Amino acid sequence: MKPAQRPAAVRVFQTALVALPDLDVFTPEDPHGDAYFEEGRLFGAYVGGQLVGTADSLASWLAVPGGRRVPHTAVTAVGVLPTHTRRGLLTALMRAQLDDAVARGDVVASLRASETMIYERFGYGLATQAGSAVVTKARARWRPTAPPGGPVRLVDPVESWDLLARIHEALPAHQPGAMGRPATWWNQKLLRTRKRGGLTYVVVHGEEGAEDGFARYYPDLSVDWRDEGRRTIVVNDLVAGTPAARAGLLRHLLGLDLVDRVAIDDRPLDDPLPAALTDHRAVQFREIEDETWLRLLDVPAALAARTYRGPGRVVVEVVDDLVPANSGVYEVSQDGAARLAAASAPAADLRVDVAGLGAVYLGGTRWWQLAAAGRVEARDPAALATADALFATASLPYCGTRF
Ligand SMILES: CC(C)(COP(=O)(O)OP(=O)(O)OC[C@H]1O[C@@H](n2cnc3c(N)ncnc32)[C@H](O)[C@@H]1OP(=O)(O)O)[C@@H](O)C(=O)NCCC(=O)NCCS
Repeated sequence: MKPAQRPAAVRVFQTALVALPDLDVFTPEDPHGDAYFEEGRLFGAYVGGQLVGTADSLASWLAVPGGRRVPHTAVTAVGVLPTHTRRGLLTALMRAQLDDAVARGDVVASLRASETMIYERFGYGLATQAGSAVVTKARARWRPTAPPGGPVRLVDPVESWDLLARIHEALPAHQPGAMGRPATWWNQKLLRTRKRGGLTYVVVHGEEGAEDGFARYYPDLSVDWRDEGRRTIVVNDLVAGTPAARAGLLRHLLGLDLVDRVAIDDRPLDDPLPAALTDHRAVQFREIEDETWLRLLDVPAALAARTYRGPGRVVVEVVDDLVPANSGVYEVSQDGAARLAAASAPAADLRVDVAGLGAVYLGGTRWWQLAAAGRVEARDPAALATADALFATASLPYCGTRF
């Protein structure tokens, strides 16, 4: 799609979504230069010359278990005008986008789904979940043994943008499911921050020149700020590369005067914060939702990129109707994963479609769960436990980046 049509694409997406908090900030009148869109990634569906559907994506990386970062198409802005739904336009857009991503050599694609019924048919599986950790400040006391964290300092939310991007890109490879944030992502968020005016705050952790984490937060003004007892800040981005950074940033946030509640968006469900407080019910997880829907574009490359933990080996047959090159038999063990030649492949222990494999790939969904749901065929039930041990990760995978 040509750059000149970007404003029309934004309008189509906004109309398709009806309403989405934050989306109204990005109006069609905003500049639509390459700062916000990546050339060659926006697809349009046309009927009688009119643009009626869109699908866009960002060039990114995804951190897989073991820490490698694989090339990643981050799918976004998918929408079809309500006057043109259920006639195959999304299917055509997804097909074109999938072919394009495979041709680019990307190993995985992921997205956030507005509704759960849409994307499995295109090979996406639910791989991670996240929730908002809402902390009641009056109940939040740190255990004496909780890490103290290092120094934090407030920085200008607009001027600090390059620093935040550098901190994020330098994150150590400890979080399976994390994704790269390209410049277009940062530019869109910066636009929103500017429009929100002075009420966004950014705090960074670490000595100058050695920063290793940051938090962005703003007051929730949907409740009257004079209403003592209900003052809430929303932390919409918490990035910590080390335990010290986590501790330092959280201590800053939970220590803010005036504030009654701290709502930290997009936390993994095994977040250690409750365990670091004397009263773990000071933290309530709310709005637990699907986070990453993952599509393996190149199954051999994806299986080879991650590491495996448990003993034993499994032979898995993968079925991918949309990208037939992925269909095949793979052997997975602690030594790695490889496709077996069809002629010599033994009968598979497990059989799964590519959406199911996307769900279990990061370790957030378990093989036994899918088998119990009838989505994995297990010739040998013992293979499920072997597969779960192999695919397990130390902590739950999560992404923490909205796009
Ligand atoms: C979701 C959306 C993009 C679907 O577009 P579409 O052009 O109607 O989809 P298609 O006609 O290609 O549908 C393909 C199949 O998916 C099904 N499907 C599509 N959207 C669905 C939904 N929301 N719920 C359940 N099934 C859905 C269709 O019934 C069809 O099934 P079939 O092949 O068995 O007949 C469109 O409804 C839309 O823009 N919705 C609002 C915005 C939105 O939710 N965007 C997604 C952002 S992540």
